[in-house]
Amino acid sequence: MHIASDADTVVARQKGREAALLIGLSRTEATFVATAISEIARNITIHAGHGEVVIREVTEDGRRGMVVVARDEGPGIRDVAAVLRQEYSSDAGLGIGLWGARRLMDEIEVSSAPGMGTTVTMKKWRGIDEVGLLLHE
Ligand SMILES: Nc1ncnc2c1ncn2[C@@H]1O[C@H](COP(=O)(O)OP(=O)(O)OP(=O)(O)O)[C@@H](O)[C@H]1O
Ligand SMILES: [Mg+2]
Repeated sequence: MHIASDADTVVARQKGREAALLIGLSRTEATFVATAISEIARNITIHAGHGEVVIREVTEDGRRGMVVVARDEGPGIRDVAAVLRQEYSSDAGLGIGLWGARRLMDEIEVSSAPGMGTTVTMKKWRGIDEVGLLLHE
């Protein structure tokens, strides 16, 4: 999905929510994922101008979930660790930032360096399927 405007961010948010529900995440989890997608898509439009968000289902070690990858070729982030620790806070202060996205998702990896662009990979795993467990007992 190409991201270059607030309208694109809204679409990415919506698609993320739909994908999360299809994969079997709860409504609350789907809202968390959608909010995290909004943040990283907004970062693309604000800091890089344009970029891309890809949403996929993922199965790893028998777990099922979703992965969101956001990529841009913008200026990059100088101190990724600081941004994830919330030592950085922008003047806008309206969003939850990458730090917030980290808390909403199960896993987040930010690969970035000045002049190299930024790639954010976030995962959310589906909880244990209790009905499935009961059926298999
Ligand atoms: N895709 C990106 N490209 C370049 N810099 C980024 C990108 N995403 C985040 N940053 C840098 O990391 C800082 C923290 O971003 P974050 O989204 O965590 O916080 P924020 O409170 O939403 O701030 P902002 O509104 O500036 O994004 C940003 O101010 C910016 O300097
Ligand atoms: Mg931001």
